[in-house]
Amino acid sequence: MESVKLKTNVNRLNGKIEIPGDKSISHRSVMFGAIAHGETTVTNFLPGEDCLSTISCFRKLGVRIEEENGKLRIYGAGFEGLSEPSELLDVGNSGTTIRLLMGILAGRPFFSTLVGDQSIGKRPMTRVTDPLKQMGAAIDARQNGAYTPIAIRGGNLTPIHYQLPVASAQVKSALILAGLQADGKTTILEPAETRDHTERMIRQFGGEIEKDNRVIMVEGGQKLTAQAVHVPGDISSAAFFLAAGAIVPESNITLKNVGLNPTRTGMIEVLRRMGANLELIQKNKDSYEPSGDLVIKTSNLTGTVIEGDIIPTLIDEIPIIALMATQANGTTVIKNAEELKVKETNRIDTVVEELQKLGAAIEATADGMIIHGNSRLTGGTVSSHGDHRIGMMLAIAALLCDGEVLLENPEAISVSYPNFFSHLNKLIQ
Ligand code: S3P
Repeated sequence: MESVKLKTNVNRLNGKIEIPGDKSISHRSVMFGAIAHGETTVTNFLPGEDCLSTISCFRKLGVRIEEENGKLRIYGAGFEGLSEPSELLDVGNSGTTIRLLMGILAGRPFFSTLVGDQSIGKRPMTRVTDPLKQMGAAIDARQNGAYTPIAIRGGNLTPIHYQLPVASAQVKSALILAGLQADGKTTILEPAETRDHTERMIRQFGGEIEKDNRVIMVEGGQKLTAQAVHVPGDISSAAFFLAAGAIVPESNITLKNVGLNPTRTGMIEVLRRMGANLELIQKNKDSYEPSGDLVIKTSNLTGTVIEGDIIPTLIDEIPIIALMATQANGTTVIKNAEELKVKETNRIDTVVEELQKLGAAIEATADGMIIHGNSRLTGGTVSSHGDHRIGMMLAIAALLCDGEVLLENPEAISVSYPNFFSHLNKLIQ
């Protein structure tokens, strides 16, 4: 097992970084490029392992995808342009790849098998396989359709009216992608608003999708047209440096071109509530995916309660918010976040276990955690548990530690932020 010695006892972070492309939007750009007609180009695509898994799956489905100087070219020929793969479709560690891909494959009249790594093998798939079976796809998987490997023979899809049992953009997107191939109008009801990149991209590619509060309606049989997509920086990656800037003394960090889609900005709201010294400079307000620059300086933070509808807008940021809360005045309570248990790891358990090793006062609850502030962080051997966001959170925690910190399995970080350590080192110097 590989491990690295993390930088500790850091006195200040200073400088500017360009946040790499958004993971959710990068995945969707490849998928929409593949199902649209014509040549789609993608700039600022995230070359993280997860998004590379999406490219590899679509190549196996017969789509020509070229990469030159960081720019992708995808030659789409509509849903009908996809062909039966002769190999397994391996999604690696990527939940977005497998769930959205299932929605696409559900309408294709051929056989395919989806596999992934050990973590994917533990993540619940019934939430997607059940409604897709209701629409008419033939799907089987380990434990009655619950876990990978998953075999799909797509079919003629019938639209459904479906109430999502969990607030999940992956499930919603899978049903929208299946709905685009169904014979009529598919209606989806969300329990809380989740990231809407799929809806925005349908519109960008010339399609139509209606949204009325938490009800989403999409007609099947639409023809999508290739586009030039520019991917904004990932706010979920920026979050690590927002937290670092707020909690490391004498810091001043500028994060350039960060995606500011309002279904993703819960972290900004929490920073403000906690009293962070944060400035937001909006830039592309009117584009399909708005973005801007963020400036964060060392802040005097106060604990807060995070619960309810804001949870889906910051679900991936909870590990780093937990770390930030260890440095705030007072207690922070995170509730209604049981979805954390089915992420790349059980993120309630892994966050609590690893931060406790470093001396934090943090407890797990049934649906979140309670974090006591003003903790002095010490040191020790910690693990990412193979989860990119746990690895990055621990690297930021180490900056405050006064003892040595060793991180096991740091390689997981390349899933979403391959140049994370070079960006961090640039800010330390
Ligand atoms: C994602 C949706 C979220 C998020 C994941 C990416 C997406 O998952 O945690 O990192 O791109 O749609 P859920 O839909 O399971 O909440």
